[in-house]
Amino acid sequence: MLSNLEQQPADALLALIKLHNADTRLDKIDLGVGVYRTGQGETPVFGAIKAAEKKLVETQDSKAYLGPEGDMGFVEALVPYIFGDSAPSLDGRIDGMQTPGGTGSLRLALAMAKRSGATRIVIGKPSWPNHPQICRDLGLDIVEFNHAAPDGTADMEGIRQAIANGQEGDVLMLHGCCHNPTGIDYARSEWDEISALLADSPMLPLIDLAYQGLGNGMEEDAYGLRRVLGSVPQALICYSCDKNFGLYRDRVGALYVMMEQAGQLAPVMSNAHALARANWSQPPDHGAAAVRLILEDKALTAQWLDELDQMRERMRQVRQTLAAAGRAGSVDLTPIGGQSGLFSIIPLTKEQVLEMREKHGVYMAGSGRINVAGLTMGNIDGFVGAIADVSG
Ligand SMILES: Cc1ncc(COP(=O)(O)O)c(C=O)c1O
Repeated sequence: MLSNLEQQPADALLALIKLHNADTRLDKIDLGVGVYRTGQGETPVFGAIKAAEKKLVETQDSKAYLGPEGDMGFVEALVPYIFGDSAPSLDGRIDGMQTPGGTGSLRLALAMAKRSGATRIVIGKPSWPNHPQICRDLGLDIVEFNHAAPDGTADMEGIRQAIANGQEGDVLMLHGCCHNPTGIDYARSEWDEISALLADSPMLPLIDLAYQGLGNGMEEDAYGLRRVLGSVPQALICYSCDKNFGLYRDRVGALYVMMEQAGQLAPVMSNAHALARANWSQPPDHGAAAVRLILEDKALTAQWLDELDQMRERMRQVRQTLAAAGRAGSVDLTPIGGQSGLFSIIPLTKEQVLEMREKHGVYMAGSGRINVAGLTMGNIDGFVGAIADVSG
């Protein structure tokens, strides 16, 4: 039976890691995989996480099952950060559950949308490739709209049209902040407009918030999400702690559901729990428990926020340095300064991306996506020079 399966293409980014590891050049630059790196090229465990893990080992007295919803203390501790003080959560319209990372949350949200009758997922192009991959796997149709304008800002006409064409049964996938792969987020006035348009639309918004705090700050990065939630009756929110707590492989995420009335939440959450049970039964505990311990402790929370500030500052500094370089060959680097988060796209052709790798040892995704945290004050000039060389 298993010989019926066809070979699937290897994940392009994982293949890139192998190529990078095999490259013996000392000045090679890895801008591929999406993890934060310090100025020394490391992805360390947060100090606040180390401290919370120590506390966890000392105080945890059982590893008995918690249930498909996971650690509800974790889920609730995140609520003020995501939804703010005046959030609808306060009148009981939001409920949530723990998931294995943001990916588990997306899988659950989309499966639940499908159960509720969704047929089409409307997604800006380009998006994180796992978005369409999950939709395809669930048998959901994908409708694309253009996300990025040529000047490196958001294509507002693209999303206006997408909302105008929205039908019953459509889910609109939105990146809450730090858009992957473009780094192009909506400005506040653009979120205001999108929220107003969604108020009159039958579309169900699904907001993917995988990088809160890596853009402009924890509060600032939640602006769009809160604005949309203030205008629509129902929404799905997919959250990841894997970047903002540096927990990548521990798989820490949450799914939240907002309904028009508190009384409508129970049947929805019962479906989410049943789907979780059918997929992974229960989420992994360790990382979420560490996050909960941080958020329950004022000093650890301050330490975590401080570490997050340092990450964000470093990425801002890299972005500003690239933007200050202006032009590199035919590429205008200035829009990168106004973009947010780990990623931006350098508009190079596939051949130029290959030349960056072969001639200059710069490893970036075929789409031209770079992880800005892969750049340091020591390699940034070489990177800009390489772009000028291949695109000049
Ligand atoms: C846009 C977006 N959403 C969700 C995720 C999910 O992250 P994780 O499953 O690692 O928590 C990622 C990770 O790269 C992402 O880029």
